[in-house]
Amino acid sequence: MPEPPERSPARGRGPGGERAASPPAAAALTASGTIDGIPVTVRRGTTLLSAARELGIDIPTLCHHEGLPPEGSCRLCLCEVKGQLAVSCMYPLAADGFAALTGSPAVMEARRHVIWLLAARAPKAPRIARLAEEYGARPDPRFMKDPDGCIRCGRCVRACRASGPEAIALCGRGYGRFVTGPFGRPPEDCIGCLACALSCPVGKIAFSERPDRRRIWERDFELAPCPECGARVFTREQLAFHGAAASALCPSCRRRAMAGELRKAAAFEAAPALARSL
Ligand code: SF4
Ligand code: FES
Repeated sequence: MPEPPERSPARGRGPGGERAASPPAAAALTASGTIDGIPVTVRRGTTLLSAARELGIDIPTLCHHEGLPPEGSCRLCLCEVKGQLAVSCMYPLAADGFAALTGSPAVMEARRHVIWLLAARAPKAPRIARLAEEYGARPDPRFMKDPDGCIRCGRCVRACRASGPEAIALCGRGYGRFVTGPFGRPPEDCIGCLACALSCPVGKIAFSERPDRRRIWERDFELAPCPECGARVFTREQLAFHGAAASALCPSCRRRAMAGELRKAAAFEAAPALARSL
């Protein structure tokens, strides 16, 4: 006797009647294409830069920082998609069939040009000098008017915004743009956290530290002692800004305190099993 024909499950349900993710819906969440000829499928909206880095392809960046919103201001990460140059840190892979190139002759030439312009702004920055060497981009003295060492990438401003104070901004337009506090004065809202200086890709924002003081943006900050070990890491303004959410402990003592809490929690979880075994 012939086997009864296999019944197809109800629409949207698995063979056992359970709800199944429909293949078209799953496909709608991904985008497939190639990067440097390598087939790749990514979550729709992933940037070309992230997808390339996942494949281990190196694309140079300056204004991009994983922890900050992208801005696409330095143009160093240019790549080629379907014959057009694209800013890879801002370019979302949103549809199937993309074909990106990260090191084509057009890309290398465009990057060389970008580095040439950046080098006119910050010729002494070691990172720019290395890129200029790598890409053969010699800075042209004709374009080096007042190279002040800032490439106007805005990373410091975004880092300051992300940490809360929003004390600095990029002001002005075009070549005359510069980073400053309100009205061109040292930023009154600065809490001396160093987020701007440590995120600057070319080391433009200077700061100095003594055992108990820090100086940045022409302002002096006192470093508060850790209540446990006395190490001075955070400014008083930083602790006041973050209020109750902040711990005055230095990072080492905070790690030790957290490890102690975890040990206590683990011992508490293990207690019933220990009692049963007695
Ligand atoms: S100071 Fe540094 S981080 Fe800020 S805009 Fe200039 S180069 Fe970028
Ligand atoms: S890293 Fe993409 S534009 Fe700067």
